[in-house]
Amino acid sequence: MKNLGILLSGRGSNLEAIARNIEAGRIPGRIAVVISNREDAPGLALARDLGLEVRYLPSKGKQREAYDREVVDVLRQCRVDVVCLAGFMRVLSPYFVRAFPGRILNIHPALLPSFPGLEAQRQAWEYGVKFTGCTVHLVDEGVDTGPIICQAVVPVFDEDTVETLSERILKEEHRIYSEAIRLLLEDRVHIQGRRVLRKDAPALSLGRPGEGEREAGSGFDPHSP
Ligand code: GRF
Repeated sequence: MKNLGILLSGRGSNLEAIARNIEAGRIPGRIAVVISNREDAPGLALARDLGLEVRYLPSKGKQREAYDREVVDVLRQCRVDVVCLAGFMRVLSPYFVRAFPGRILNIHPALLPSFPGLEAQRQAWEYGVKFTGCTVHLVDEGVDTGPIICQAVVPVFDEDTVETLSERILKEEHRIYSEAIRLLLEDRVHIQGRRVLRKDAPALSLGRPGEGEREAGSGFDPHSP
């Protein structure tokens, strides 16, 4: 059983979705620790209510790497295999990223590489795109730049506000974050440059129509093997 470490600074709805999917047997792992840099993060209280191991590590006034060393120490003490950023409002230092190579995930509320950074839902809404969505990606040393594991597309309606759009995106976040975690924990993906490929996907055949073709897209079907 692989150990997850969840890092958050806010509400914690993604943490909750992950915890529920673990409980339902859809993710072959356990949450070893939830770490927050904010004492008043509702996600921290939620984690306590869920009976999870919780650590508050204040970041205020600390150098980025010095803080990250503290976090990495706790993650190692808790024998964490995969780190999930779930609304953790800090950019990780290269030290942190190198401590868990290919084993840090982030969820971003837009279709990267569009609208990286803060308030991605508002950025998309203000830009006037007709579709946006969310992205789960591996964390590299840039901001929202790592290889993409999965994405979900969400329509933008004329009557949407930033709030209604954000809600629609959040539902998809809760679905695809668990899907990505499962793929990683089950060792079902491999990385080729920037591309994260499914190990179990049949090869596409070139030149012989029909043979080896497969449907595009792969919704998280919790009941599929
Ligand atoms: C989500 O919108 C996520 O995409 C972004 O931060 C937000 C966290 O929400 N990275 P929650 O705390 O999981 O509810």
